[in-house]
Amino acid sequence: MQQKSKIMEDLVLKSAVKVAQLDELSEAERHLVALAIEGTNRSYAPYSHFHVGAAIQLKDGTTVIGCNQENAAFPSGICAERSAIFAAGAQHPDQPVIMMAIAARNEKGELQDEPVSPCGPCRQVLIETETRFKQPVRILLYGQRHVYVVDGIKQLMPLSFTEF
Ligand code: THU
Repeated sequence: MQQKSKIMEDLVLKSAVKVAQLDELSEAERHLVALAIEGTNRSYAPYSHFHVGAAIQLKDGTTVIGCNQENAAFPSGICAERSAIFAAGAQHPDQPVIMMAIAARNEKGELQDEPVSPCGPCRQVLIETETRFKQPVRILLYGQRHVYVVDGIKQLMPLSFTEF
């Protein structure tokens, strides 16, 4: 039998994330991080005790805070990121989302040392947000030790599903 000449190739997917200290961020970015931390105080998380806050900045400068909302029927709850994006979509449907900050507190009420990263469904919703407004969303993942700065959700979700 003849040997197949073609072999499988590697497709290497790269993501670029900046690791920053809080004081390296712009004033607007630090303000959004502060609002995400405020979101952690508003979180309703009686089951996981993991309090997540998200804050969004819209193109006109408006900011919207979200936080996780849990439920005794677990899947009925929602993450902080989607709560913020959906609230912004309901209240300011025509304003592009340009930036989002995320922070979380553990069950002891301490802010996480390491940055918190959005879950899969929240990443998919961020993809939709970028598609909808035709621009990337800058994402600030807050940790006490450092902040990850991500230029667009595609960095966190390569080979994403965008449209059919
Ligand atoms: N959670 C978020 O709000 N955002 C994330 O990115 C990850 C997880 C929430 C969901 C649930 O209320 C709690 O954190 C524990 O998973």
